Amino acid sequence: MKIRVEENYRQMSCEAARIIAGEILRNPNLVLGLPTGNTPKCMYEKLANLCKEGVVDFSQVVTFNLDEYYDLPFDHEKSFHRYMEEKFFSRVNILPQNTYIPNGMTDSVERECKNYDRKISEQGGIDLIVLGIGPNGHIGFNEPGTRWDSATRLVELTEKTITREFDRSQNHPRKALTMGIKNIMRARKVLLLASGEKKAEIVDRTINGPISNDVPSTILQLHPDLRMILDEGAAGKARG
Ligand code: PGA
Repeated sequence: MKIRVEENYRQMSCEAARIIAGEILRNPNLVLGLPTGNTPKCMYEKLANLCKEGVVDFSQVVTFNLDEYYDLPFDHEKSFHRYMEEKFFSRVNILPQNTYIPNGMTDSVERECKNYDRKISEQGGIDLIVLGIGPNGHIGFNEPGTRWDSATRLVELTEKTITREFDRSQNHPRKALTMGIKNIMRARKVLLLASGEKKAEIVDRTINGPISNDVPSTILQLHPDLRMILDEGAAGKARG
């Protein structure tokens, strides 16, 4: 495990974008696993800039997103399809047919999940997966209690995860499709990003705590090629 601490969110994001760009320069056909959420927003901005400047070329890159809400229309403001389109895909030269996101609007969850895992295999597996982390240690939407051998599937979201994103008074999703821990652990390289003091405790548990399904991110201790990029806030406890 390699841990790098950057001074602030912006620098954490630059470093993440640099690592991804470097991987694409070495392998233009890179298969990239991608997160959503607040943490990677600036990383996507930096990658879009690197693409605009001609530093990095996404024309042969293939992406698989980690997750998507179940039964949430693609044009909903919280949909990860919409997030990816607005923040990244529309701003780089990636081909739409090379971008995969679980289809939460599917009429057959089982078929969708099986297909998703099959498509990942057909692309030769994921070379580099980028992760955020939830305060409860979820990676993707693998909430506490997730089995280590889980693949892509439909999951129930915890109340806390839902209320981080949705107003209780609104109609909101209670489930999501997510890659499993097995998909994440099979990626050749893992890059985990965490920013802000509110992530310090979970970062500390992820690095130093016992490996337990109660904190899904702790399984990453066993990944042979894990890099974490933290800002000073998120590193607080881990460094102390
Ligand atoms: P965040 O979410 O980047 O918005 O903090 C991360 C996550 O819940 O996985």
